[in-house]
Amino acid sequence: MNFTISQYEFGQRPSVTIPTPEFLKLLTEEGIRKLVSDHYDLLARSEVKHLFPRIEEALDKAKQRSSDFFIQICGGHPYYNKSRGKPMLAARHTPFAINQHARVVWLQCYIEVLSKLELPEQVIESFWNYLNTFSFWMVNTKEE
Ligand code: HEM
Repeated sequence: MNFTISQYEFGQRPSVTIPTPEFLKLLTEEGIRKLVSDHYDLLARSEVKHLFPRIEEALDKAKQRSSDFFIQICGGHPYYNKSRGKPMLAARHTPFAINQHARVVWLQCYIEVLSKLELPEQVIESFWNYLNTFSFWMVNTKEE
């Protein structure tokens, strides 16, 4: 599949379509947790590793929060709302200086893990389109 990373102007918040529930149905909760875990492991070795927890226990908690969110957004159990409350994700990302480059690295790490999944292309594409657009909402810092 062809993963395209869209470029937006700083401050733009493109409209977002939530992923198809098929993604969760076919991948299962366990599969989403593994995907997110593998993504964090790549981030922890990436150019933007400074943004993410270094200590293993903290990284495990981050993996859990993030998987809880993705399971929920794919129509699954509302784990995230139960443990963290309303997502308000753009606000939760403001303590971290996320620029366009950090977004691209974050997305590239997702391309690496999504490429390994054996799911119908349109199901992966739906999840990818969500990441590609919604990730722009987390960009809060201009490139130097
Ligand atoms: C579709 C886009 C994204 C989604 C859905 C998402 C989701 C999340 C969630 C659910 C959390 C946990 C919030 C909490 O309850 O504390 C989180 C944390 C975080 N995210 Fe994102 N995120 C996205 C994009 C990004 C991007 C592009 C970056 C920067 C490269 C980023 C960096 C971080 C950092 C540094 C944290 C805090 C550490 C952690 O808990 O992992 N996120 N994200």
